[in-house]
Amino acid sequence: MSQFEKAYSSLTIGPLTLRNRFIKAATNEGMAKGGIVSKGLARFHERMAEGGAALSTVAYCATSRDGRTFIDQAVLDDDALADFRALTDAVHRHGGAASAQITHAGSFTFLDKDTLQTSKPLSSSGGFNKVGVMSGRFFKKAMNRDEMDAMAAEFVTAAIKAREAGFDAVELHMGHGYLLSQFVSPIYNKRRDAYGGTIEKRMNFPSEVLRKVLDAVGKDLAVLVKYSMTDGPGKGNTISEGVEVAKRLQADGAHMAVLSNGLNVESIQAMFGCPLPSSGSKPANPIIGLGMKIQEMTAPPPIEFRENYLRELAQQVRAAVDMPLAYLGGIQSHEGVEQAMGDGFEAIAMGRALVHDPHFVNRLREGSIQTSGCTACNRCVTMMYSPGGTSCIESPDKPDPKLNTERAAA
Ligand SMILES: Cc1cc2nc3c(=O)[nH]c(=O)nc-3n(C[C@H](O)[C@H](O)[C@H](O)COP(=O)(O)O)c2cc1C
Ligand code: SF4
Repeated sequence: MSQFEKAYSSLTIGPLTLRNRFIKAATNEGMAKGGIVSKGLARFHERMAEGGAALSTVAYCATSRDGRTFIDQAVLDDDALADFRALTDAVHRHGGAASAQITHAGSFTFLDKDTLQTSKPLSSSGGFNKVGVMSGRFFKKAMNRDEMDAMAAEFVTAAIKAREAGFDAVELHMGHGYLLSQFVSPIYNKRRDAYGGTIEKRMNFPSEVLRKVLDAVGKDLAVLVKYSMTDGPGKGNTISEGVEVAKRLQADGAHMAVLSNGLNVESIQAMFGCPLPSSGSKPANPIIGLGMKIQEMTAPPPIEFRENYLRELAQQVRAAVDMPLAYLGGIQSHEGVEQAMGDGFEAIAMGRALVHDPHFVNRLREGSIQTSGCTACNRCVTMMYSPGGTSCIESPDKPDPKLNTERAAA
C-alpha cells in the first residue's frame, strides 16, 4: 500500500474506528449565535462528512458558560443536547464521526462583566490579565485546589454530555493559551506548588483532567488531546517540553495527540505558519479586530507559509512516542499527505484546506485535484463571528446566515 493509499485506510483510536485517516481540525465556526447549536453549524459538519473526512471536530464546545471565550459559543450542557444530537446525526448519515472539542477559556475570555459569573477569570496564576485589557477584566485568579476539583468535574461532565449527544470522540483543548494550556505554558504558569515549576509539574493538572475524562468516557469515546508543541519563538515552551508533554499524554493513555503549535496572543504565526491579515481587512467582531491591530503593532517579522510547516517539530514528537499522533499544519496537497504518512503519523488533521473545500478529501482521492486552492491568506479567521460564520473568502459557496439563528433540532 502506498503512503497515499494508507491515508485512506481505516484507523482505530481507543474504542473508535475511523473510515480513513483525515480529521477536520477545529476551526471556530462562529455559527452558534448566542450559544445556539444551529442548523448552520450542523450543516457545516455534515458537509465535512459528505466530503470524505473521517472525523469532524466541532470547535470550542465550552465546559460551562464561564468557560467561553466569546458569547457566541455553545456550551456542552443539557440545553444543547438535542441540537448537538441533530449535528452528530447529520455527520453519521454520511459515514463520518464527530468529535467535540472541549474547552475552557481560563483567562482568555472576552465575556463582559455581566456575563461572567466569577469576579476574576480563573487561570493557573493570578495577577495582571493582559487579555482582560480588551474586556475590562484586568486581573485573573489563581485556581485553588477546590476550584481545580470543580474544573476537572466540569470537563468530565462535558465529556459525558458529548457522549449523550452522540459524539464519537472528544478532544481536550490543551493548547493555544486556553485554561489547560495556561497550566502547561510557563508564560502563564508561575505557580510554586505541585502544579507549577518543571514541565512535569505544569502537566499535573491537565494530566489529572485527562485521566478523569478517560475514566469517565474512554471506553465509549475516543479521547484526543490537542496541544501546542511549542509556545512559539522567543519565550515559553520549546520542543523539548513539547516532547515531554507527549510522553505524559502517552503515559496517561490518551488515544491520540493532535500536534498544534503556538499561542493565540503571543505567537499566532507559530499556529498558522504565516501572519493574520492586516487589520485593514475589517473582521466582523471588533474584539478580533482590536486583537489583530495589537498583534500587528507588536508582531515579529512575517513568516512565509510553506506546506507542512510544522513537520520538523512534529517529527521530534514522533521520534519520542509510540502513541497515535495526528499531524496538523499546512497540509495542502497529495504530496503533503504522502509526506505526513511517510513520516509515520497515524492521522492527518486539516483546517484551512477543508474550510476552503469540504470535499477536498474525496477530490484528492479521485485525483480530480492535486493541490488545495487555499492560499493561506487567513481571511477566514476574520470571518469568524460574521453573521454567516467562518467561511473561505475565495470560495463562491457562502453559508446562509439565517441557518445560524435556527436551532439544529428545530
Ligand atoms: C478560521 C479558523 C478558526 C480556528 N479555530 C480554532 C479553534 O476553535 N480551536 C482550535 O483548536 N484551533 C482552531 N484553529 C486552528 C486550526 O485547528 C489549525 O491548527 C490551523 O488552522 C493550522 O492547520 P491548517 O494549516 O490545516 O489550517 C482555527 C483555524 C482557522 C483557520
Ligand atoms: S480564506 Fe480561504 S483561502 Fe484564505 S486561508 Fe481561509 S480557507 Fe484558505
